[in-house]
Amino acid sequence: MTETREEWLETFSGCGFCGMLLPEEIEMFINVGEDKRLPSGHILEIGTNTGATTAGLSRANDRRDKEEMVVSLDPYPGKAFSCAVRLLCAANATLYSKNVIAMQCSLEQLQKVFGNRRVFRMIFIDGDHSYDASKKDYELAKEMLVPNGIIIFHDTTNEIYGVKDLWNELTKTLPIQMENGEIRISEEYPATGTCKILRWYV
Ligand SMILES: C[S@@+](CC[C@H](N)C(=O)[O-])C[C@H]1O[C@@H](n2cnc3c(N)ncnc32)[C@H](O)[C@@H]1O
Repeated sequence: MTETREEWLETFSGCGFCGMLLPEEIEMFINVGEDKRLPSGHILEIGTNTGATTAGLSRANDRRDKEEMVVSLDPYPGKAFSCAVRLLCAANATLYSKNVIAMQCSLEQLQKVFGNRRVFRMIFIDGDHSYDASKKDYELAKEMLVPNGIIIFHDTTNEIYGVKDLWNELTKTLPIQMENGEIRISEEYPATGTCKILRWYV
């Protein structure tokens, strides 16, 4: 990796397949993904689709200089598999790093084999946007987050998505007590674009 952060951001923003992300969201993902103040742990993305966020997160993750991975899930073959192939082909190319694992499954399926291990420092919920599914993803994510880690919800502002209802409901229950500390709205990372961010403070 030889290019600067700015050069890479320019390449990434102009790559033509991150149309689902607002420019300020791209920047926020990069900032959170590379932030060395966050604890050790991997990144989990729920909803691979084009792999645009995956790409952004993978390069940001590299900048922490740790042996950490970006795990991206999508249960639909057209999404996860096309991305997996693209990721493998592009492993040495500009957009992706080698630290990505693309899996064809939901978080519920992953959790069945993986268990509730707390291994993720950052979890991005952008899969099935219905209320029930995003709530299930959130409940599972909470069990896999490391202390001081963060959970990002995408599309929390659009009326047609149940994520908005979930977010409104969650904000009424904050802070959420954990075995150690509590989950609150992130102070370091304010809401950006359609994203809202929670952090587990210990
Ligand atoms: C809005 S897109 C994600 C956009 C992605 N972040 C990007 O940069 O292109 C939502 C994705 O979630 C996937 N999806 C649907 N249900 C899911 C689930 N239960 N778990 C994970 N992903 C799911 C869809 O197949 C779709 O690819």
